[in-house]
Amino acid sequence: ILGTRAKSLKTLAEFRLTNDQLLEVKKRMRTEIQNGLGKKTHDNATVKMWPTYVRSTPDGSEKGDFLALDLGGTNFRVLLVKIRSGKRRTVEMHNKIYAIPMEVMQGTGEELFDHIVQCISDFLDYMGMKNTRLPLGFTFSFPCRQTSLDAGILVTWTKGFKATDCEGEDVVGLLREGIKRREEFDLDVVAVVNDTVGTMMTCAYEEATCEVGLIAGTGSNACYMEEMRNIETVEGDVGRMCVNMEWGAFGDNGCLDDIRTEYDRAVDDLSLNPGKQRYEKMCSGMYLGEIVRNILIDLTKRGFLFRGQISETLKTRGIFETKFLSQIESDRLALLQVRSILQQLGLDSTCDDSIIVKEVCGTVSHRAAQLCGAGMAAVVDKIRENRGLDQMDITVGVDGTLYKLHPHFSGIMHQTVKELAPKCNVTFFLSEDGSGKGAALITAVGCRMREQEES
Ligand code: BGC
Repeated sequence: ILGTRAKSLKTLAEFRLTNDQLLEVKKRMRTEIQNGLGKKTHDNATVKMWPTYVRSTPDGSEKGDFLALDLGGTNFRVLLVKIRSGKRRTVEMHNKIYAIPMEVMQGTGEELFDHIVQCISDFLDYMGMKNTRLPLGFTFSFPCRQTSLDAGILVTWTKGFKATDCEGEDVVGLLREGIKRREEFDLDVVAVVNDTVGTMMTCAYEEATCEVGLIAGTGSNACYMEEMRNIETVEGDVGRMCVNMEWGAFGDNGCLDDIRTEYDRAVDDLSLNPGKQRYEKMCSGMYLGEIVRNILIDLTKRGFLFRGQISETLKTRGIFETKFLSQIESDRLALLQVRSILQQLGLDSTCDDSIIVKEVCGTVSHRAAQLCGAGMAAVVDKIRENRGLDQMDITVGVDGTLYKLHPHFSGIMHQTVKELAPKCNVTFFLSEDGSGKGAALITAVGCRMREQEES
């Protein structure tokens, strides 16, 4: 067995990145950030650095009742968010989770938006609020080219979505049309919000030094407050604006090819969007299990695992969800329990198999956390340089299933940022429910801005 183990470990060696490699990833991210922000380089850039029209973090004066939609994470949710300002700031939330069946995710755009509106209808019935025209914030966690707070053209679907006739369209328009088609209730769509931005705003509501948002979940992405003078794709030089980096597309020009393995390429080739979101496919929950599965298939083929038998289960895409990886890697778990998890998944393992499987999972998620940390190190150092500081304290609001559920991801990511950006003292703040609370906060600001324009 030692021989087998040694051989399978060799396969994993490629996944272990050196400090120099990580520094190189950080440096390349910085170059891509620059390209995304530059007027001349933006069109060909991979990391798009989309402006969000969110020009400040909350100041505590936000108030009102808002509806929020959350599309693009693990679940689809509709939320009612009540924000009270003044001495006692409170945020009260009610929400319902709805399933989006695979056929709807990958059907027509009209079916998708009809389904969304159907869920809103159900929620409004449930809350008894069909007759109020509430302002709505639409957390839509996909790359959008925004021209204002309430207009966002879907550039490309990511993660598991592939509905037709949506790419190139304004998703706020699609939502409004869906609401009209139903002729049952009316809503005032005020803002389209990326989940990273919602997360940053939620965190900033509690902690004013938060100017960065990070999602490590089904997908991977970050946003931060950039100086207007550096965002060459938007008119004006005064103040700051939050940019949705869409860093998942980092590497789509081949700049990460030297660290991508044959397993990364296999996962990419079999995905819904081959060639796209290459960095995301190395660091996010939707794909880590797939990388693991591809390695296990290879090790089995080579006779190192599962007695050389590739079961139907192992051939099934998507079996290793984040929650399973998290369980398998939990330190408190005895190997026997790892075997029982594999058993639940329909994989018969020996004790030796379970050791290898655990090792594979650990290696893949370790690299994911380090890569994510390298990206974040580039971001915080950029902010520090923007401000001309030798040393800077900053807070990052984070959410996502991988960050929350995985036993080691967060720790390794934090450590990597510390090592790669030693001049920044970064505090990570778990900021749950950005897609609800954050969207409502942004909607509140949007309503206030509109009132100011009108008066
Ligand atoms: C999307 C981003 C999103 C991230 C996290 C990515 O696939 O492109 O817009 O922020 O997932 O949900």
